[in-house]
This record gives sequence, C-alpha cells and structure tokens, in this order.
Amino acid sequence: MTVLAKKLFIKTYGCQMNVYDSAKMADVMAPLGYGISQSPDDADLIILNTCHIREHAAEKVYSELGRYKILKESRSPDTPLLLAVAGCVAQAEGAELTRRAPAVDILVGPQSYHRLPELVTRVTRQGGQALETDFPSDDKFDHLPSGEGKSGVTAFLTVQEGCDKFCTFCVVPFTRGAETSRPAQAILSEARDLVARGAREVTLLGQNVNAYHGAGADGTVWGLGRLARALAQIDGLSRIRYTTSHPRDMDDDLIAAHADCPALMPFVHLPVQSGSDGVLSAMNRRHTVDDYRRLVDRLRAARADLALSSDFIVGFPGEQDADFEATLRLIEQTGFAASFAFKYSRRPGTAASTMRGQVPEDVKDARLKALLALINRQQADFNAAQVGRVLPVLFEGPARHKGQWVGRSPYLQPVHVMSDENLGGMVRDVTLDELNGFSLIGHFAGDLH
Ligand code: 5AD
Ligand code: SF4
Repeated sequence: MTVLAKKLFIKTYGCQMNVYDSAKMADVMAPLGYGISQSPDDADLIILNTCHIREHAAEKVYSELGRYKILKESRSPDTPLLLAVAGCVAQAEGAELTRRAPAVDILVGPQSYHRLPELVTRVTRQGGQALETDFPSDDKFDHLPSGEGKSGVTAFLTVQEGCDKFCTFCVVPFTRGAETSRPAQAILSEARDLVARGAREVTLLGQNVNAYHGAGADGTVWGLGRLARALAQIDGLSRIRYTTSHPRDMDDDLIAAHADCPALMPFVHLPVQSGSDGVLSAMNRRHTVDDYRRLVDRLRAARADLALSSDFIVGFPGEQDADFEATLRLIEQTGFAASFAFKYSRRPGTAASTMRGQVPEDVKDARLKALLALINRQQADFNAAQVGRVLPVLFEGPARHKGQWVGRSPYLQPVHVMSDENLGGMVRDVTLDELNGFSLIGHFAGDLH
C-alpha cells in the first residue's frame, strides 16, 4: 500500500520549548504520511503551537485562527483542512477556545502531543472535535520517535518540564504542570543521536532547567551540573547551553561545572525580573536582590568570562517609581550582555492578576521604554567590547555573501568570516575585527588580517 503524501504546516509561537515540541509533532505525524509544508495554503493539517505567557501572545492565536477558518471554508470536500491548536493556549483555554473558534478540530496540550496521530485519525473518520488537555499518566517522551534526517549544527533538547515555583505573574505552572525531569540516559541517548545527525551544540531546555533532578545513569539523582559533565563526554559535542534558569536553583555543582567543564558555554540566561526586594517578594520569586548579586559574583568567580542575560517585567502590581529605579540600578551594576523586557500582563488565574495597585498602561509604557534603552545600550557595549578579542566560533553554514560563513560566539553573537573551506559544524578561533549592527566580522586567529 502506498502512503498518501499529506502536508503539515506548523506555526510556532513563544519559547524555544515550543520550537522543540513542534519538531517532535512533525516526527510523530511523519508515519501517517505527513510531510512538512512551508505554507498553510496547500496543507491538509495546520497545527498552531501556541503561547499563553502574555495576553498579546494568546490573542494572536485567535486572529490567526480567523484566517485559517476562511481557508478551511474555501476547501472542497475532497481537499479538507484539519485545524489543530497545540501548546499552552490549548491547555489553558481548551473549552473556551472550542467555543470562540468552532472551526478548530483538535486541541492538544503540551503533555499530550504524542496522541496527535490518534486524534487526527479519529477526527478524520468521525468528524467532530477532539480535546486532549489532561495531564496524562503516561510519559510522552516514551512515545516519541527519534528524529530523522540531518540535524542542524545547533539543536534543542528538552530535559525538564513544568514549574513548581508559582511566581505570582506566571501561567507556566498551570499550562506546563508540575516539574518533571527526564532520566539522564534518555537525554544522553537523544544527544548522541543529535550529534550523529550533525549537531555540535545542544541547548538543554526546561521551564526551570536548573531544577533538573533526573534519574542518573548510575542510579543516583543527577542535577544539571552532573548531566552537563556527562554530555560533555560525547564525542563531537562541542557546546552545551541551558535555559531557562531560576536563581534559587543555581546549585554549587552547576556553578562548579562552569569552572571545570569547558563545553558548558559561559553565557547564562538567569532572569531576575526586578531589582526591588518588595516587588520580588510580591512576585514570590523567593530571593532578594542581594541573593542575586551574590549568585552573579559566584558564577563570575567560577568562570571569569561568563556573561549573563535576564528577563525583566515592568509595571508589576504595586511597582512604584523607586522600585523601577532599583531595577535600573541593578542592571547598571550587573551589566547584562542581552536582556528581554516585558510589560506586566494580567493572566487569568494567577495571583497577581487580582492584586491591588495595577499599574496604568502609560506608566508601563514609559518604564519599558527607559528599560529597553538601558538594556540595548548594555548589549551594544558588550558587543563592541568583543572587537579585538579572539573567541571560539561554532560555524553553522554559509552566509548571504559568497565565500562568507556565519557562526556564533560563546555569547550567541553572529560572527562572519571569509573562507574557502567548508566550515559547517567546526569550531575555530576568530579574531573579531569589527562590529556590524548585531554581528561581528572577523578572521581566523593566526591568519594575516
Ligand atoms: N507578564 C509579563 N511578562 C511575563 N513573563 C512571564 N509572565 C509574564 C506576565 N504575566 C515574562 C517573565 C519570564 C518570561 C519568559 O516572560 O519575564 O521570565
Ligand atoms: Fe513562571 Fe516563575 Fe516558573 Fe519561571 S519560575 S516558569 S517565571 S512560575
């Protein structure tokens, strides 16, 4: 029997874990004859992999669904289109979504996408809607096929999911559920497989990645430092990154791993959210500004060339001018290589959404503008400071201009060099000559300029 070629279009919103999950959804649908399409127009199945973190992200899903509804209605009965919503909006708004967007055929939460083939088959045969948003008792990772074909030079690898922290602004503990860690053996074998398919860098993913505590290969429980050291033993794996960390979970062993494991990149995303103790407490972050400062000092003591990035929220309920100024001060004092800033967004069901002292939109706008100016200046300064230095660059592929290759520094800055050699997947020391926007231009260290 020949399997009919069908087309799957996936649109991904939000975090890197959604990017990883989308690739896994493509993998689970492949045995049913679905190949990836770059356009929704000729697709048989569209999956929107959604994000619920801020209101704006969630609302985008509804406008996108409006467009796909029209596309669906334009189809003839012999070229039907199935619409699926996956990810955190499906998880959080399941029933409401089916009411607001009746054109949706399938809703599947982040823990259940291994069930997609059976949901697609059921809806195709019987019609109606399929909703799968319970936190299932079986582990989706046990059901996911390993990927096929070549991997990119850089790859994502989920090691941990969910969050038990309950920061008062955040929907993640509700949409992704309680913290769980994958066993180390499963992660090591997925990493070996990625390396065999061409990956040279893996970014370990988790909503609370440094809270990783998985069953170790030796029967003990491993933290993220131990896991990173074991991954670093894999031949051909040059670089290890991890994201996103919580300051409370940065343990001694992980800090030590930054000192003794060269493959662990000296660039850590460590969100602090605010520089005010009062706001941190209302956010239920469970650490003070000073705890954060000391932690940064310890990380830098472990590895002098370590750089940091962070997330900040402006306009959290009760945030006064003095609190905001304290955030600016913390940024000035710490020095971040890159940061993300968001206006506080009220999320239904979270503790902060009903707090008194909600901050007016124009105040949030003004604070965001001031904060962005500062973090952009710090990023530009950090990038400019690399000029004249030699950094190892992992090359990803040819750049736009003929003979030019692009790779990344340890700090994820794009670096361009000219070379006749095929550099894909190689790490080379590069002298950085010039900053061009956000990217650096260099030549191989040792070569004449
Ligand atoms: N409003 C604004 N920003 C938020 N984040 C999480 N929840 C909210 C919210 N309700 C931000 C945090 C987090 C990042 C992923 O998104 O800064 O670190
Ligand atoms: Fe959300 Fe806080 Fe958990 Fe991060 S640590 S996912 S911000 S609740």
